[in-house]
Amino acid sequence: MIHSRRDFLRGAGSVALLGATGGWGPSARAAERDTVTLHARPGTARLAPPGYPQTPVWGYDGSVPGPTIRVPHGQRVTRRFVNGLPQPSTVHWHGVRIENSMDGVPELTQRSVQPGAEFLYDFEPPDAGTWWYHSHHRTWEQMARGLYGALVVEERIAPQVDRDEVLLLDDWRLTNDATLQESFGALHDWAHAGRMGNWITVNGDGAWRRASSRHERLRLRLVNAANARIFVLELQRMEGWVVALDGQPLPAPMGAGALVLSPGERADLIVDVVGAEGEEALLATRDREDTYTLAAFPIQGVARKARLPAPSPLPPNPVPPLGDLASARHATLRMEGGAMGRMRQAMLGGRMVGVRELAEQGKVWAFNGLAEMPDEPLLSASLGETVRLTMVNATAWPHAMHLHGHHFRAVASDGATGPLRDTVLMDREETLDIAFVADNPGDWLLHCHMPEHSVAGMKTWVRVA
Ligand code: C2O
Ligand code: CU
Repeated sequence: MIHSRRDFLRGAGSVALLGATGGWGPSARAAERDTVTLHARPGTARLAPPGYPQTPVWGYDGSVPGPTIRVPHGQRVTRRFVNGLPQPSTVHWHGVRIENSMDGVPELTQRSVQPGAEFLYDFEPPDAGTWWYHSHHRTWEQMARGLYGALVVEERIAPQVDRDEVLLLDDWRLTNDATLQESFGALHDWAHAGRMGNWITVNGDGAWRRASSRHERLRLRLVNAANARIFVLELQRMEGWVVALDGQPLPAPMGAGALVLSPGERADLIVDVVGAEGEEALLATRDREDTYTLAAFPIQGVARKARLPAPSPLPPNPVPPLGDLASARHATLRMEGGAMGRMRQAMLGGRMVGVRELAEQGKVWAFNGLAEMPDEPLLSASLGETVRLTMVNATAWPHAMHLHGHHFRAVASDGATGPLRDTVLMDREETLDIAFVADNPGDWLLHCHMPEHSVAGMKTWVRVA
């Protein structure tokens, strides 16, 4: 655990400067001040090509991405979050079926951590897999400035691979001198597709590359950390399988052909380099007609004579099976608003408000006619109950719907269920049923993972008690 030690040393230096000024979690004990620090602070990153200046960012430990946190399944994750930003912040552990008080949602699960203050995040991830963490305060600004990193919980029996790479995909809106365009909060973005960037990075690098060899087997843990970009992915001179989606193992590995990752989603791939020496294996993304390289694996040498046999499925995580769907507790979520939408009015601050005034208040979307976080949950479930949600996307835009604290399955009209997910892309005008077992007590956010949409009205919550 070299990175932990380094973080610890770094953190130890920063404590003296910042001081401990309250904001401690309920489980804080003096001894825990020795735990590894996760320090959100301004820093710089080499996002743009050589010849451009470095980009000022906000990052965990000042870097983009933040440190990859890797723990064996069954081990606790303990991080003393120190807020060195000029704004309040929190850390959300995306996809982890975490205890509610550690979920990092301001005003729902904890108070925001003020500048200079700290919060102790301490939890045991119940599931092995690829998770990630990011700011959940002013996410539309803080995540876009670089506040995210990967959390890898290693399987007790891991699949045989030569290498395991985390690839965090992001896009940035850069100026010509490689600084971030300070257009956070632009209502036009909020009402359209969100903050789309003009520069794509993998692990904070615009030209990420690592040498590989023919027939080498790689595990690629892909995370879409962009605010709004939906990545259409393809592999070149690499072939293999998707073995997990949103951290949860697929019961059977699925051919990794075309893959779409919307904001917040992850995919674990096991791939073999099949190109010849001197070629480059590529992870690429398609944007309309064009294909861009995300990550390049120049092929040097031969790892073995032939490809390894197909991998077995990853061991399943302890997610309870869905109960009876016919008798499940049911709610409908109608998503409205946005540019080219039909929404004319919505409730805001206890009164009905027309779209023009809504827009003046920065609200351009609504869930069930409400353009802000409701006081009452969308649904209250008793612990262990099966819940079915019908989500109706009555907008002209795709949305990446994310539920906290649980994993769900899409339910088709014939009752067939999809793989476990924590985020699902809904196309414009699409209706989708999802179902999950409400086995995690607490108040859990349900929102669009394009944070510009979420802040502008696409957020609600469910209560499990
Ligand atoms: Cu990854 Cu509520 O978010
Ligand atoms: Cu959205």
